[in-house]
Order: sequence, then structure tokens, then C-alpha cells
Amino acid sequence: MLTSTHIPVLVKETIEALAAQPGGRYIDCTVGCGGHAAAILEQSSPGGQLLGIDADPKAIEVARTRLEAYSGSVLLVNDNFANLQAICLKYDFLPVHGILFDLGLSSLQLNGSGRGFSFQHDAPLDMRLSPNQEVTAADIINTSSEAELAQLIRKYGEEGCSRQIARHIVRERPIRTTLQLAQTIERAIGSRRGIIHPATRTFQALRIAVNQELEHLEVALNQSINLLGFEGRLVVISYHSLEDRIVKQFMQREAKDCICPPRVPTCVCGHQASLKLITKKVVTPSLTEVELNPRSRSAKLRAAKRIISQDEQYMTVEELGGSTEAKANGWRRPTVLKKLRSVFLAA
Ligand SMILES: C[S@@+](CC[C@H](N)C(=O)[O-])C[C@H]1O[C@@H](n2cnc3c(N)ncnc32)[C@H](O)[C@@H]1O
Repeated sequence: MLTSTHIPVLVKETIEALAAQPGGRYIDCTVGCGGHAAAILEQSSPGGQLLGIDADPKAIEVARTRLEAYSGSVLLVNDNFANLQAICLKYDFLPVHGILFDLGLSSLQLNGSGRGFSFQHDAPLDMRLSPNQEVTAADIINTSSEAELAQLIRKYGEEGCSRQIARHIVRERPIRTTLQLAQTIERAIGSRRGIIHPATRTFQALRIAVNQELEHLEVALNQSINLLGFEGRLVVISYHSLEDRIVKQFMQREAKDCICPPRVPTCVCGHQASLKLITKKVVTPSLTEVELNPRSRSAKLRAAKRIISQDEQYMTVEELGGSTEAKANGWRRPTVLKKLRSVFLAA
């Protein structure tokens, strides 16, 4: 039986940053075990609505059970958040008051899921979020050249010993399981190195590569802006520096009216700010939260709100490139939100 043992991170801070309110509609792009989603629905009741997305069908199953009490207000979609805009258009779920990304993996996936995400449990080297994806971690490990592996481990794991690790992997292939890979890495760089396990960075690199995590994050962030209503909130919790850098640079860029290089004397880019930063400084968990939930220790929350210039209109649905066919298993938009939508979207 699937149980939800995942403890959501920075919940109070997330609800505050989303400014969740009764009757609001929200998207949880990483619904996972439904912890944040439940808090959002609680805060937005009565009348709140939530679209929950997850690439992992097992997570959707768990979220469905967890959110049963709110079933009339929740729409769960098993898809990659890289398709965020298409999902919102398909279910006519826009504009929204807030969008949340709680990146990475849930405890459900990490702890003994048998899917190879963690070196602490022996399992086949899979690491795919969705069974529909073709390439597994074992495919990458066993078919890439030594140079490709070294580059991947350095780029996505920020691992200083990537060449030694790649050399050992190639020498010891085929490698089929998490334990085999962790032992190969230990033989390559030793078993004791600082506070993290020597395999941590390589496992992170593989997971990022298998799921194209950074590419999908960039795509989804770019799509999120046009789905937000006026002053709608974008909230992102990240767990490693590569993700956080993308989020920080995206929010900073979208909060600027001009993004020309400093040496250009007058603006030629025509860029207009679409976001205003809410968190000037990144929000991190309290010591108490980290003690209660060690997984939260690396969490970083950043938030911004949608702004529009006086002459700007929201893109029409046609401009966004889709149809507004609203089927979605009986999903209905409340009248108040219909009105909001007609204000937000140009006719
Ligand atoms: C940290 S967990 C979210 C936990 C959730 N906030 C909760 O309170 O239970 C991250 C979730 O995002 C999902 N995920 C990661 N990347 C994704 C992507 N590109 N598209 C859709 N879901 C993704 C994972 O499958 C995982 O379930």
C-alpha cells in the first residue's frame, strides 16, 4: 500500500508567499504527496480550487487519497510541468492566483521506492519520474563515453572528482544497481569525504540528467508568468544550487524593465518587467524545522508577484496557442472566477 510519509517543507512560509485566500485558484506544479496542496486548499476554503500536477503517477495516486476531503475542489493531472501552459489551456484553468513549485523528490520516491533514486537502498538504476520516459540512469551509466560521464557528473553534480568517478564507472561496467554504483564511486574517491556521502553528487547529477530537470524548470517558469492573474504569486522551493540559480536569475530578470548588457548605452531589448520580487532575500527553514525534518535543510524559497504595465493586456487564449475545451471530468469554474478571467484576459 502506498502511504504518505513526506513532510512538506516551509508550509507556513509558502502559504504566506502565495497569499492564499478563500475562493482563490492555485496550481501546485509538484503536488507529490499533497502536503502543500492540502494546506493551500485549507487556506483557500471556501471556494478555493487547486490544479495539482505531478510527473509521477504514484505521487498522483497518493495525492488523490490525501486530498479526498477536497475532491470537489481539486483536479489532479499526471504530466510533466514542462507542459504547464498546455495543461492549463486544456482544463481552462487560468488565470490563477498562485503557482507553486516544490522541486526535487518526495520522501515517497527517496525512501525505498525501489526506483533507484537513493544510494541508501539497493535498487535497479532507474531514476525516471515517469515510466513513460525512455532513458534510465542505467542507460546513461552503461552507454555514455568516459568524457560524457565526467562532464555530466561535473555539470549536474558540481562534483570535483568527476574524472576519477567516470574512469572507475567505465572500468567496472556494466553497473545495474544503486549499491554497485555507490561502491564504484567509493572505490574511485574514497568512502569518507566531508559530511556528505561520496555518491551524493553523482546521484544528483544522474537524476537531473535522466529527468532533464533544469530544462523543464526553465520552460515551466517561463510559461507560468502568463498564467498568473494580476498580482498572482509565483513561489518556488528549490533544494540545490543549480535549481536555485535558475529560479533566482529568472525572477531577477523578469523583475527588470531592461535586460540589455551594462555596456549598451540605451535600451534596445524592449523588455518589460512582469514580476515584482516579494522575497528580497531567500527564505530558509528555521532550526526547529530542520531538526524536525532534516530533508528541509537545503530548502530555499523565492517568491514574486505578477505585475502588468498600464498598456499591457493578458495574452488571449488564442495567442497562448490552444483551445479552451473544458472537459476535465466534471471540473467547473466558479462564476466569480469566470468574471475574474474576463477581466484578466483580453477578449
Ligand atoms: C518535493 S516533492 C513535492 C512534495 C509536495 N509539495 C508535498 O507537500 O507532498 C516534488 C514532486 O515533484 C515531482 N516533480 C519533479 N519534477 C517534476 C516535473 N518536471 N513535472 C512534474 N512533476 C515533477 C516529483 O515527482 C515529486 O513528486
